[in-house]
Amino acid sequence: KIYRASTTAPVNIAVIKYWGKRDPSLNLPTNSSLSVTLSQSDLRTHTTASCSSTFEGPDTLLLNNAPQSLSTARSLACLKSLRALRSKLEDAESSLPKLSTYPLRLVSVNNFPTAAGLASSAAGFAALVRAIADLYELQQSPTELSLIARQGSGSACRSLLGGYVAWDHGTRDDGLDSRARLVAPKSHWSDMKALILVVSAAKKGVSSTTGMQTTVQTSSLFQTRTKEVVPKEMAEMEKAIKSKDFATFAKVTMRESNSFHATCLDTDPPIFYLNDVSRAAIKAVEELNEKAGRTIAAYTFDAGPNAVIYYLEADEDAVLKTFLPILRQKEGWGKMDTKIDGPGPASPQVVEVLEAGVSRVILTSVGEGPISVPEH
Ligand code: DP6
Repeated sequence: KIYRASTTAPVNIAVIKYWGKRDPSLNLPTNSSLSVTLSQSDLRTHTTASCSSTFEGPDTLLLNNAPQSLSTARSLACLKSLRALRSKLEDAESSLPKLSTYPLRLVSVNNFPTAAGLASSAAGFAALVRAIADLYELQQSPTELSLIARQGSGSACRSLLGGYVAWDHGTRDDGLDSRARLVAPKSHWSDMKALILVVSAAKKGVSSTTGMQTTVQTSSLFQTRTKEVVPKEMAEMEKAIKSKDFATFAKVTMRESNSFHATCLDTDPPIFYLNDVSRAAIKAVEELNEKAGRTIAAYTFDAGPNAVIYYLEADEDAVLKTFLPILRQKEGWGKMDTKIDGPGPASPQVVEVLEAGVSRVILTSVGEGPISVPEH
């Protein structure tokens, strides 16, 4: 008999960034972070986990049809924790099949390019943990499972939940209080949208794991950021989300992205994730907010040049109009421009840089947490 469970898990994009570890082996962060979970119709990892007493050899993982190593410390930590929970169930109930002793076969597929720097490790580890937890029929809550996903990749812990999700840094050495917490479900503020300018599908220069370690060791700005800046921004952001105050949400989001990238620049050797195309995206958002006379869009950048622009559905026309030349060129939006109202496209210099450097535009929105797919 083969036992099987399938799950899809979403990507999340932080508005308060995780950058720095107080314990690299447990992935315990130096500061709390907060993200928006994105819709799985556009960006998600689908993972099927199966196991059987008839399988032989070690556990295996296929990602987009390519074999991946499961012998990294991070993957081993996730598998070990999940097996331990299953084994507890088996000890308590002797009639249960001993799934914890069977080799695992994991098959994952992303519906977006893995190397585009679109938080694939977050969706990947969230899907892996959720799928195996379902396979093992574990009763742990998403927050409890987030402790396991965190060990795979820090940001993955936030992808166990939908909507608006905080990851509290915690203070315990064993990390048991460093986990994801729901700030508000998707339904609380469901008109949050995101436009993603995929700037480069090439793999990023400095991985986030390596980059944040160097920052912790060398940046003096980092100290102020973790101790003083982020705690204040976290409090303000949670308040903005609870009261659906977009202007504050947007201002904190942009300030936070800039603080994070300033800290990267303050690292020795300096880390540059933003490029000319990213800076053109920042300019486009600034022009848009200025022309609109209020803050209707917010940019944020992770460890790469892709721009994620948050806005509310009611302002979609204005945002689309700003990026229309790029949507027309990259996504074939030719005939739609007459129907869209708004202050108009970004300035010609900005459009020129975006047209040359953006490879794809993804329109998405706030979404739900992992979805377990029933087996037939
Ligand atoms: C800039 O979660 O990829 O996207 O824990 O080493 O796997 P590891 O790092 P990772 O770092 C993400 C950094 C970020 C900010 C964020 O998502 O909060």
